[in-house]
Amino acid sequence: MKTAFPEGFLWGGAVAANQCEGAYNSYGKGLSTQDIMPHGIAGPITEEPTEDNLKLVGIDFYHRYKEDVRLFAEMGFKVFRTSIAWSRIYPNGDDLTPNEEGLQFYDDLFDECRKYGIEPLVTLSHYETPLHLAKEYDGWVNRKLISFYERYVTTVFKRYKDKVKYWLTFNEINSILEAPFMSGGIYTPKEKLSKQDLYQAVHHELVASALAVKLGHELMPGAKLGCMVLSMPTYPLTPNPDDVIASMHFEHKNDFFADVHARGTYPNYMKRYFRENGIEIHFAPEDEELLKHTVDFISFSYYVSICETGDPDKRKTGQGNLFAGVPNPYLQASEWGWQIDPQGLRYVLNRFYDRYQKPLFIVENGLGAVDELVDDGHGGKTVNDDYRIAYMRDHLIQVGEAIKDGVEVMGYTSWGCIDIVSASTAEMKKRYGFIYVDRNNDGSGTLERFRKKSFHWYKEVIGTNGASLNKDHNLE
Ligand code: BG6
Repeated sequence: MKTAFPEGFLWGGAVAANQCEGAYNSYGKGLSTQDIMPHGIAGPITEEPTEDNLKLVGIDFYHRYKEDVRLFAEMGFKVFRTSIAWSRIYPNGDDLTPNEEGLQFYDDLFDECRKYGIEPLVTLSHYETPLHLAKEYDGWVNRKLISFYERYVTTVFKRYKDKVKYWLTFNEINSILEAPFMSGGIYTPKEKLSKQDLYQAVHHELVASALAVKLGHELMPGAKLGCMVLSMPTYPLTPNPDDVIASMHFEHKNDFFADVHARGTYPNYMKRYFRENGIEIHFAPEDEELLKHTVDFISFSYYVSICETGDPDKRKTGQGNLFAGVPNPYLQASEWGWQIDPQGLRYVLNRFYDRYQKPLFIVENGLGAVDELVDDGHGGKTVNDDYRIAYMRDHLIQVGEAIKDGVEVMGYTSWGCIDIVSASTAEMKKRYGFIYVDRNNDGSGTLERFRKKSFHWYKEVIGTNGASLNKDHNLE
């Protein structure tokens, strides 16, 4: 059977430490911003961790990772994306020495992956800034965060240089614009945060990211370092030129991040934006040179596309992955209101490739849905998640189309390959996995794992390197 997917395509799945590990205050781990976010971004933060925060236990991946990695291997994963919880390595973020127990945990996890030939893909910072850095320094607003991050990444690069080849510097780095606490550890409430401080924080993250790329290349010859952005194709709501310009502005706001990572300088449209908004970014003498350390590849999440309009009366805001836009009248939405647009993935792949000519990695994509655990007819239990299969099939077909368009795609890691706590709403009910985890929104459940129907479907996709998708679509 023929396939559009190149040999060596990295098929796999993705999670983040704070959404699955649990063990939030054990084995030397310090608190992270997530430990005081019981409602995700959907509600207020708390002073201390509270029992209703499902992430404190997560899916107990910390203790069950061997069973989970075995299941990933059974599906044929070539790659597994997870993050290192910064506060497991440096509990306060500004400590001088790392926590050996934390380092050992990731040694064991990466060894377990490698045992099955699964390549780890590691996010250095995935919405889990050490809480002390948020409270004491106001997170990335403070330039000192660059040196704390430098110490942390140097430690993990040196430790795992023989075990991890693929690294991402910051998860969805552009999301700091919408979620400054979750994404940037900025303790100042969003409504009080000035644009000046917000964009200075962005600058610090961009410099830190470039520094990580520089250090990564020096310390780990052969390693590949990428940025990670939240992608959101933005269509003009109508052909009215006002709508086209409005969508261009929205796209620029996000393009800024990948532009700097891929080109090594600030784009001119942002200079205009700063000028007109009275923002003056303070560059330290070394920053300009540092930013020139550009990434090896661009990675991104893709869930939804949105529309933009220049007409203030039509600016009705729809739901979306952090950035909300105007709903598209041609698209259906998920149970959480995220509009489903498989062709948007082909579009965004082409757009990134046209812009940067760098390899691309889809490191998040999937459907958050309510699942029902039922008898599988053989004495076990399963979920008949045909809706998830349809979502992923339609998106993967578009990945195949983009590859046929000539786009260089390194791999695809579906989001939440095993059910985990959701980021935006911090619930278990919103499930993405091929593997069902028995845990509920009220914290009840045995934490037992069950293979869903999509588990077997994805196994076939990987086993045939995408050729099984031809059953529904000609990808030859
Ligand atoms: C991305 C994040 O924004 O979307 C993940 O990188 C997150 O951490 C994913 O889980 C899906 O969002 P949610 O809110 O449905 O979990």
